[in-house]
Amino acid sequence: MEEQSGKSEAYLDTKVEVLADGPMLVHGSVIVQTPDGKEEIKQKTTAFCRCGESANKPYCDGTHVKIGFKG
Ligand code: FES
Repeated sequence: MEEQSGKSEAYLDTKVEVLADGPMLVHGSVIVQTPDGKEEIKQKTTAFCRCGESANKPYCDGTHVKIGFKG
């Protein structure tokens, strides 16, 4: 992977993957801060909703399949 902004590859331990017609996956450790000020630490892989219809926002709950989300 190409070094960017002078930061070492050693710091690039999180990967974002956008799935076709589905969620955005974040692989790695992240802190998720919600509008109510709560914070959650997520490990491994976290799926974030892109379709806007999840009942568990900001996370994907699989609703994108039911509604036929394209994007
Ligand atoms: S992307 Fe999966 S519920 Fe929205």
